[in-house]
Amino acid sequence: MEDYYWDHKLDYLKNTRDLYYNDDYLGFLVNSVWKISKPVHIIDFGCGYGYLGLKLLPLLPLGSRYTGIDKGQQLIHTAKSLFQDLPYEAEFIEADSTEIELESKYDIAVCHAFLLHMADPIKMLQKMIHSVIDEGNIICFEPHWISNMSSYNLNKHDQSEIIQLGFLQKLFEEDTKRNGKDGNIGIKLPTYMSELGVKNIDCRVSDKVNFLDSNINETDKQRLYDSLKEEGLGAVSTERNEFIENLINRGATFTEAQDQYEAELRFSKAFNINSSLIYAPSMKITFGVVKK
Ligand SMILES: C[S@@+](CC[C@H](N)C(=O)[O-])C[C@H]1O[C@@H](n2cnc3c(N)ncnc32)[C@H](O)[C@@H]1O
Repeated sequence: MEDYYWDHKLDYLKNTRDLYYNDDYLGFLVNSVWKISKPVHIIDFGCGYGYLGLKLLPLLPLGSRYTGIDKGQQLIHTAKSLFQDLPYEAEFIEADSTEIELESKYDIAVCHAFLLHMADPIKMLQKMIHSVIDEGNIICFEPHWISNMSSYNLNKHDQSEIIQLGFLQKLFEEDTKRNGKDGNIGIKLPTYMSELGVKNIDCRVSDKVNFLDSNINETDKQRLYDSLKEEGLGAVSTERNEFIENLINRGATFTEAQDQYEAELRFSKAFNINSSLIYAPSMKITFGVVKK
C-alpha cells in the first residue's frame, strides 16, 4: 500500500475542524444564505473522513445524498465506517480527483481545505464546475493563510514578537509561485470562479473565534488547547539548522529564516494550557451558480 501523507493525518483532521465554524453558522448558511429547501446530491472533493458530509447532511432536507472522493485509502475506510450507522445516503470513492472522470449529475460540488493542495487549482475548480448540473452550485471552503496569521492574540505578547506577518506574506507568495499550491486561495476564489463563468458569486468568512480562556473548566480548556496545538499554534520548531535551511530553500534570506525561527521559538515557549489566547482561522467560503 502506498504510504500516503493524508492517511496519517486523521487525528489532525478530526481535532482541528471544530476550530473553524460554529454549528449555528453552518445552519445559517444552509437555510438563510443558500436556502436549500429540496433534497440535493452533493459531491465533496478531497472529502477526507467525510467532515463536510457529517456537518451538512443533518442540516439538509431529508433525502439528500453525499458522495465523497479522496485519494486516501485509510481516510475513505474511516469515512465509510463513520457513516455506516448513520441514517444518510452516502457513498465514498477512493480516487485521485485530478484523474477521475465524473458525470455532470450533482446538484452541489463542495470542497473544504482541498484546493490549496492542488498544483493547478483552476483546473480542479473547472472539474468541480463540470461535475454539477445546469443551475447547480459550487461551494468552496478554503483558507486564507495571511488573514489567519494576523488573527491571533496571545496575552501579554506583542503580535510581532511571535508572528512576522510581512515575512510570512512573502513566503506564502513565493511558495505559490514555485509550486502552484496556494494557502491564500480562499481570498482569490471569487475572481477565479468569475473567470470560469460562475454566476451569482458571493463570499463569506468563517465565524468562529476561539478563545482559550485560562478561567474555564479544565476539560474544555484541554480540548481547545489540544486542537490549537494540532492546528500548529506554538508548534515546537524542528532542529534550528534544518528549519533555517528549509526556509532558505523556500526563498528566505539567512536573516529572515533566523528571525522566523526565533519568532516560532518564542511562540512555542510562551504558549501553554494556561495562556489566554484568541485565534480566528478566517476561512473564506466562496459560492456561486453554474449555468450551462
Ligand atoms: C486538508 S485535507 C481536508 C480533508 C477534508 N476536506 C476536511 O476538511 O476534513 C485535504 C484532503 O485532500 C485530499 N486530496 C489531496 N489531493 C487529492 C487528490 N488529488 N485527489 C483526491 N483527494 C486529494 C487529501 O487526501 C486530504 O484528505
